Amino acid sequence: MAIGFHDRDIISITDFSREEILHLCAAGQHMAELEKTGKRNSLRDALKHRTLSYMFYEPSTRTRTSFNTGMRELGGRYDGFSGTEGTSVMKSETVRDTVTMMCANHNDVIVMRHPMDGSLQWAADVANIPVINGGDGKNEHPTQALLDVLTIYALKAGKLDGLRVGFGGDLSHGRTVRSLSLALSHFDNVTIRWAAEDFLGMPEDLAQLLAASGVQVERDRTVRDVMRQVDFYYMTRPQLERMPGVTQKDIVSMMTQYRIDMEKVEGFSARVLHPLPVNSEIAEIDYRVYFTPAQAFFAQAEYGIFLRKALLHEMLGHDGYRRYDGRLPAELGTGNNRLRRKIHGVKQSGMYIDKIHDGTVIDHLVPGTLRAVSDVLDLENRGYSCTTAVIAEKANPFIKTNMRELPERDLKRISILSPEPTIDYVKDGHMAEKFVYLLCANANCISRTVNEDVPPRFYSDSGTVRCRYCRRPYAISHRKITEEEKKAYVASLPTRIEPVGYPD
Ligand code: NCD
Repeated sequence: MAIGFHDRDIISITDFSREEILHLCAAGQHMAELEKTGKRNSLRDALKHRTLSYMFYEPSTRTRTSFNTGMRELGGRYDGFSGTEGTSVMKSETVRDTVTMMCANHNDVIVMRHPMDGSLQWAADVANIPVINGGDGKNEHPTQALLDVLTIYALKAGKLDGLRVGFGGDLSHGRTVRSLSLALSHFDNVTIRWAAEDFLGMPEDLAQLLAASGVQVERDRTVRDVMRQVDFYYMTRPQLERMPGVTQKDIVSMMTQYRIDMEKVEGFSARVLHPLPVNSEIAEIDYRVYFTPAQAFFAQAEYGIFLRKALLHEMLGHDGYRRYDGRLPAELGTGNNRLRRKIHGVKQSGMYIDKIHDGTVIDHLVPGTLRAVSDVLDLENRGYSCTTAVIAEKANPFIKTNMRELPERDLKRISILSPEPTIDYVKDGHMAEKFVYLLCANANCISRTVNEDVPPRFYSDSGTVRCRYCRRPYAISHRKITEEEKKAYVASLPTRIEPVGYPD
């Protein structure tokens, strides 16, 4: 595969090949060399007249400033926002509109961080300039993974095969463990060991992905057990901001035996990495460890500058650039999440509901959700009819309305409360359309945020249906869908995340 980063979106570490990761490691090391030999200025005009827009919806110190430093040292500029206060996000502006504005503002690249999983794929779909993922929810942080790999590469003299890495802290709510472990899965004979509370442990879907790509994943009881058997110990901060209802105190007690203190590093040769910041209250790394030879996380942070500088240089260091031309991609408004069902005509619903002539039946609602769904749709106050019914023996609540087609936002509102509703559109007494509305099941996926208007899209990754945005697997579970209907749907999906198209 040819290695090229010109104007490429950097969304997921899984989009990188082994060769590309190694190429960026070499490029990052070259930047480190220039720095160490006093030749930083040799690239001072490389990105002259280029501008980076940073869009940070979540706090950041290292990611934002290291991209800015990289840009500055290459002669480029940067502008943007750090935190949403003071931006129109406070006025309920969508990600789509804010990203479009940053393209219109004559920027050449966007670095964005956002609390929702999949938000960066969405931003890349919207933008006509390259977009770099600076962290999307608990999903991914690809440039962190690249700088982590660069650090290991530098400390291990380029040897990444046979690597043994330990993970600790919070493997569940963070994005750095996911991206780094997936980056390591490109190399041979990699072993990952981890020790943490169940609540903070390795997510099942990640463990499966790693196993499928040949990484040996082992859970140990204690940190010392891990430390004894690894070259690097990657500690992480419990991501309290992504654990509603959990207090700092709960986490402190969960972490007692998993903190990295002197007793856990003494006698071992493992180097301790951490994406930073360390939480001062939990102190997942005791400050005394900072002064030991095990500490490698500040060097790691500086590799962040070298890696991001190298990446920007590779992406933007060429002639010609894309300009915002006011066009929005054709697909921004349309999902591919409607699983078509065979039409058998309009069934008489007997005594429960009268025959419908023009309107919609929202069928197969999850028992117990009828009230919540009809409340959220609020059809009568919007001037439509609303008949709710439950056929007891079928446990099959449904709603009938004279609204002819439901807006996308209503379909999402229904699906959030009651997954996989069947939607029947009846026109002139005939069933005109019948489909099951699929919505990503990851509660933190941006495609579920009603007001963002992200069209739900899926792709079929060797038969596994995945969300285009957060890439989590989606299991179609509707009891009425036939194998044939399901097969036809999966076959209709793209087999990869295809770029969005622009209207002619
Ligand atoms: C990490 C992040 O934001 O995911 N920080 C970083 O980019 N270095 C880790 C964290 O916040 O714990």
